[in-house]
Amino acid sequence: MCGIVGYIGNREATTILLEALKKLEYRGYDSSGVAVVGGGSDLRVVRSLGYISNLESRIKPTGATTGISHTRWATHGVPSEENAHPHMDGSSSIAVVHNGIIDNHLALKQELSGKGHTFLSQTDSEVVPHLIQEEYEDNGGDLLEAVRSAVGKLKGSYAIVVVHKDHPDMVVSARMRSPMVLGKGVNEGFVASDVTALLKYTNRFLYMEDGEIALLTRGDIHVETLEGETVDRELTSVDWAEEDAEKGGFDHFMIKEIFEQPQSLHQTLTGWRSDEEGLSRELLRARMMRVIACGTSYHAGLVGRCLFEKFTSLPTQVDMASEYRYANSTLDDSLVLLMTQSGETADTIAAAREARRRGMKTIAVTNVVGSTITRESETSLHLRSGPEIGVAASKTFTSQVMMMYLLSSHMGYQMGRISKDEHDAIQTNLRYVIRAVEGILNDVSRIKEQARWLSKARDAFYIGRYINFPTALEGALKMKEISYIHCEGYPAGELKHGPLALLTEETPIIALISDDHTYDKMLGNVGECSARSSPVLAIAPEGDREVKRYTDRVITYPRIDPLFSPIPISVILQLLAYYAAKERGCEIDKPRNLAKSVTVE
Ligand code: G6P
Repeated sequence: MCGIVGYIGNREATTILLEALKKLEYRGYDSSGVAVVGGGSDLRVVRSLGYISNLESRIKPTGATTGISHTRWATHGVPSEENAHPHMDGSSSIAVVHNGIIDNHLALKQELSGKGHTFLSQTDSEVVPHLIQEEYEDNGGDLLEAVRSAVGKLKGSYAIVVVHKDHPDMVVSARMRSPMVLGKGVNEGFVASDVTALLKYTNRFLYMEDGEIALLTRGDIHVETLEGETVDRELTSVDWAEEDAEKGGFDHFMIKEIFEQPQSLHQTLTGWRSDEEGLSRELLRARMMRVIACGTSYHAGLVGRCLFEKFTSLPTQVDMASEYRYANSTLDDSLVLLMTQSGETADTIAAAREARRRGMKTIAVTNVVGSTITRESETSLHLRSGPEIGVAASKTFTSQVMMMYLLSSHMGYQMGRISKDEHDAIQTNLRYVIRAVEGILNDVSRIKEQARWLSKARDAFYIGRYINFPTALEGALKMKEISYIHCEGYPAGELKHGPLALLTEETPIIALISDDHTYDKMLGNVGECSARSSPVLAIAPEGDREVKRYTDRVITYPRIDPLFSPIPISVILQLLAYYAAKERGCEIDKPRNLAKSVTVE
């Protein structure tokens, strides 16, 4: 979704604003813009439709060292230069970039029009600079107070950054339900909607919270609540390196991130030890588990359900975050896991608030230290996957799944439901999983070959049972997200209750086979599909002879305990999706209409 960068310091602002903005390109956008103040000129705003390179070609260094920039992902109003940010007030003194949605923009527009304001765009955001202009006059030219009063009138969600032509020595920002992080350098300050934009310049960050307003000057960052109370929060050090947010010789971020999985999984496994020590024993009183998440994270939660039920015996429910608000049970006293790699998904954050309102204990599972979900939950578990830039999640998914093994076995052992030996065997198996992933990544030729074949399909079904039913859902989601092939994940046993009607020789089936109590039934399902002349691609453990009796198309994964097969199988499915999408010439890192972090409900 939209990206924001703001800068104040002693360097050429346009250079930093564009360079940092490019780091947010992965979020998806349709237009971009920059505004700078100082350096001998008043307020200069340049906006452009399409790629940031279009914008760049229109900008010349100005000597200004204060400014803001934005990538827009259209919500109100079509993608166009007029609708791109920054927006200005009527006197061209104030420029504002905004992420989020102003719910009461129509009422505000009407009120401001009555006072003589004219609007040039179709956006909700444009009311903000006009509102600030009104308040600026009423507050005797005090920009901080003007922004404070203006945001007090906004309903909805916003992360805004404001500059004024008469105040080149300050940048003001405010946040409500939309992410915003402040960065501190030496005699310079930064603000951005995502920390990855700023990794080149600093690793010292201050995450803003809802209802806060910040004043950045060259030497200082000052944060207050909207009520005027000073916020005295420590800066957070982020250990991500700038190179982590670059492609490093790979064609796409997604393939780089797929290949990083042995390392990211290792980091999740070793990092868990410090999180484990901090977990309160109070959690063990839980009578039920609930995992709440969206998209890929929801699929990791479904794997978690099998594991919590197996290791802790607790009944476990998995909810899509956007649906949780409609859950009505008043007898629910679950331990709630909020799974969100970004920590900023609006639906998951809303669910966290709702769960706490209902008096439940909450744990966030996220990849981003200091993200909103960590403040909305009582405890946080950190994935440590490193930054993930590709819109379609890969390495964060396998880390989430690994976290499900770690947390469920920890709880099961502490609750006395599994023995120490069983607990330790799980840790050993997780190390084998990492080796299995390495083995898969060492030779991807067979996967590429099958991906070339799959890339011709119009529709496909992914089928699995038990712990690999969620793997099938995730495999299908990955393929549809980046290759635009219509795919559905199905429990293999459900095929006969509907989808069989759709099978033809042009409908590939991807069957996920593991050597456990589901094995015979899965083979039966493969036979069922072959009998309807659907071609089957089986993903099966190395050395399997049976499956070859039904299909020639087999990709194998290193033999491990089948309970742990979702991670290696998922890596194969990610690669299949990636190479099929590449064959079809798709964008991959920025699929159409999708955003990495969905910050509106
Ligand atoms: C978006 C992304 C998905 C992601 C989902 C949840 O839809 O495109 O890849 O799975 O958000 O994101 P989260 O950050 O909450 O895990």
